[in-house]
Amino acid sequence: MAKTHTQFVCRNCGHKSVKWVGKCSSCQEWNTLYEEVVQKASPRNTANSKPGHSPKSIHSIETMDNIRLGSGFTELDRILGGGYILGAAVLIGGEPGVGKSTLLLQSLLRMKEVRSLYVSGEESSQQIRYRASRLQEYDGAEQVFVFCENNVDAILAELSGGDYRFVVVDSVQTLYDPALDSSPGTVSQVRECSFRLVEYCKEKNIPLVLIGHINKEGIIAGPKVLEHLVDTVIQFEGDRQGLYRILRSLKNRFGSTHEMGFFEMEGSGLREVLSPSDIFISDSRDKSLSGCSVSCIMEGSRGLLVEVQALVSSAVYGTPQRVSKGYDTKKLNMVLAVLEKRCGFRLSLKDVFLNITGGFSVEDPGIDLAVVLAILSSNEDIPIDPGICVIGELGLSGEIRSVNKPEQRILEAIRLGFSRVFIPAAQVNTKNSKEHPGVIGVKNINELFTGIFG
Ligand code: TYD
Ligand code: MG
Repeated sequence: MAKTHTQFVCRNCGHKSVKWVGKCSSCQEWNTLYEEVVQKASPRNTANSKPGHSPKSIHSIETMDNIRLGSGFTELDRILGGGYILGAAVLIGGEPGVGKSTLLLQSLLRMKEVRSLYVSGEESSQQIRYRASRLQEYDGAEQVFVFCENNVDAILAELSGGDYRFVVVDSVQTLYDPALDSSPGTVSQVRECSFRLVEYCKEKNIPLVLIGHINKEGIIAGPKVLEHLVDTVIQFEGDRQGLYRILRSLKNRFGSTHEMGFFEMEGSGLREVLSPSDIFISDSRDKSLSGCSVSCIMEGSRGLLVEVQALVSSAVYGTPQRVSKGYDTKKLNMVLAVLEKRCGFRLSLKDVFLNITGGFSVEDPGIDLAVVLAILSSNEDIPIDPGICVIGELGLSGEIRSVNKPEQRILEAIRLGFSRVFIPAAQVNTKNSKEHPGVIGVKNINELFTGIFG
């Protein structure tokens, strides 16, 4: 009989320790170690177990044409870098209820020709069938097989006998390996089971998607320790108002990590939002109000229009308040200091509240100019012409600095009907000013102020 012993595992980084300590010596997090009983499994995956497994010359490795498999969703394909890669593993994390199971089930149903296995350790086959029949993709998808199982040995046995071309496991926290003594959901179980599935699928060239739950505090067990095991890590998150869902890539060996995908949850499943600017810029916004401005930021390869709202009023208390949502508060203080010192606007005795609408958090510095404009508009109580979009980064001397991908931002603003687009003067060239007569270059805040308020 194999001997059992206990160990302490960090739920943040997976570091093992023989005794309990308050602070993990590897990742320095506090109070993340918990006890786990382990039974040493017989060594697996040793080099000797794979006959004929030896290094190859790089030229002799076969290439595969067409190694990407379309997911059926343009937004998901964009995040993946063009589709699932054969033999690569994707981890999708998200809070319970955000729609991970729905997204993957829809993706399988859309990949009609691909024989796929949906392994569920959470729901019964009736529940999955019920969910599928709600979805618009349901008809004619005969190649999707549902397997309610959480024993990893049984799943691997099914995979080796079933000739599947695609596998989804929902979720990694429900998997267990009978060779380990600890219960499902613990770090060792999650890691060991995922490792075995990833290895198997890599060898057989099957794309694998692992679904993992993330709770409010971060991660119960799993996703963090899996990040280095998989090729791509995607986070699925809901916005604060729950209006739409955002897919974001955190790691991607085969694509960019700056992309975002937008979805809306409807009665018949998830619907992709191919033009997300429409969500952030609503036609119904009140155009006679002061303190609102629009900018175009870059999210990955795509321009996205966002609205900035500011409220500037006389401070009620001695120390003025500066509250910002969706824009860094330190940056807001910097913008206010520049306006005060370089441009002569008296804001030091004013409360300033700033909000990026849509619950969106923006890091792109190209939004600075819209923040400036919203503050000035509210301070002067003059509404901004709704046809104006401003793009540019603010420098400490009040100068307007260049942004990346100006052409794309201009195009997105023009596409959504903005007639005057203010951009950094250094980025106006004969091409964009000829193609779009509404493009106006500005050097500094004073130029912007006179350009807009006259
Ligand atoms: P689910 O995919 O189960 O989330 P997760 O796997 O991430 O835990 O479902 C998310 C929510 O979406 C759930 O509360 C029910 C709802 N929903 C819809 O609104 N419309 C639908 O068509 C489906 C299938 C689910
Ligand atoms: Mg689920």
